[in-house]
Amino acid sequence: MITENPRIPLFDLALSLCDAMDLVSERLASHHKCVAYTAVSIADELGLSNEQKNQLLLAGVLHDSGVLSEKERDDLAIFDAETGRLHQHAERGYQLLKDFKPFHNVANIVRHHHVSWNDGTGSEHKGEEVTMGSHIIRLADRIDVLRLADRVDMLVDKEHEVLGQVERIQNEIRRNAGNMFVPELVDAFIDLSNKEYYWFDITSSSLRSVLARRAKSETIELDMEELLALSKMFRQVIDFRSRYTATHTSGVAASAEGLAKLSGFSERECRMIEVAGNLHDLGKLAVPTEILEKPAALTRREYNIVKSHPFYSFRVLEPISGLEVINEWASFHHERLDAKGYPFHYGEADLSMGSRIMAVADIFTAITEDRPYREGMSGEGALSVLKEMAAKGRLDPEVISLLSLNFDEINSRRIAAQEPASRRYADVMDTG
Ligand SMILES: [Fe+2]
Ligand SMILES: [Fe+2]
Ligand SMILES: [Fe+2]
Repeated sequence: MITENPRIPLFDLALSLCDAMDLVSERLASHHKCVAYTAVSIADELGLSNEQKNQLLLAGVLHDSGVLSEKERDDLAIFDAETGRLHQHAERGYQLLKDFKPFHNVANIVRHHHVSWNDGTGSEHKGEEVTMGSHIIRLADRIDVLRLADRVDMLVDKEHEVLGQVERIQNEIRRNAGNMFVPELVDAFIDLSNKEYYWFDITSSSLRSVLARRAKSETIELDMEELLALSKMFRQVIDFRSRYTATHTSGVAASAEGLAKLSGFSERECRMIEVAGNLHDLGKLAVPTEILEKPAALTRREYNIVKSHPFYSFRVLEPISGLEVINEWASFHHERLDAKGYPFHYGEADLSMGSRIMAVADIFTAITEDRPYREGMSGEGALSVLKEMAAKGRLDPEVISLLSLNFDEINSRRIAAQEPASRRYADVMDTG
């Protein structure tokens, strides 16, 4: 029985989610963290309050959560990309973040992070006020794009070092003061960028811990209900990258919760397994969309990449204290009782009831939903596949018999969760 009542630090969680997003693209690696760090450092130069700095930190680490396709990702790396297209992911990021109460301001900052200043007309966009926070993220984001343009050379040429790039970046930013950026913010950045430590920090491999320390001063903690709400927001970021996965997580979370209830989990444990269900495929953010959407069987290489996803789910959630049990339940969903699952090869002795339930909920949902290369299986078909796996000693027979005895209930829970997810997907993809 789980009795502890963990309160999860919001910033730690946001930082881990941003680690997951940065897994998507080698080229944009650490982009979110650099933007957060630059934004908060500019805020320091300007003497903004701790509250404002916290908002900027969160907005920085989450600012591109609305980027779902590879095409959009390519656009991000172009310094003067046409803003019309960029507004689309900003608006989608806003849609994803806004329903989570503690992110109300953060969502507004994210919404306008590609609005140019244009001599002051950028204080408004489509009738909405654009806050200074958005303009700070706008600037920090473009600074990082200029820095990234150089990263390729840096990897090739060991002689290449970051301070040699400062003048070029400063000039480019100055040149755009007034049109792209608020002039006062550019001044603050120039002051900041004359300090070497800033450049050493953003190119350092310990940027993550530098950022984490920055956020420590004001720890916002989440209770179980808030954690659940945040995990619901994040399952959309995970699932909406492909229409084939758009409702997968909702189905897994709902079936896992149903099975947990039937096997005697407490109210609280049921909430926990729902959170775990929402986060189980977090590491899928590291799998390219082309693989998720491939309309045929995967090659060996592609399958190897897919295999990394529960590993990344685990490692990304690992640093968050209070989330240990949820992480086990979430990230061991491809482990099997015969120790032939992946990536840890845990067996019967290591897999708790929560992890066993998640494995069943995941397969059950996966085989009943449509995939690019096949239609979803019927209830009966699904059940016989699961029973066979249990007979072979791979899945827990107790969980399978619970599912079998209560099939209609679990199945209708799954459908009731996946239908609204599918409508929500259509809405979010429509924005912008
Ligand atoms: Fe962006
Ligand atoms: Fe960005
Ligand atoms: Fe998975």
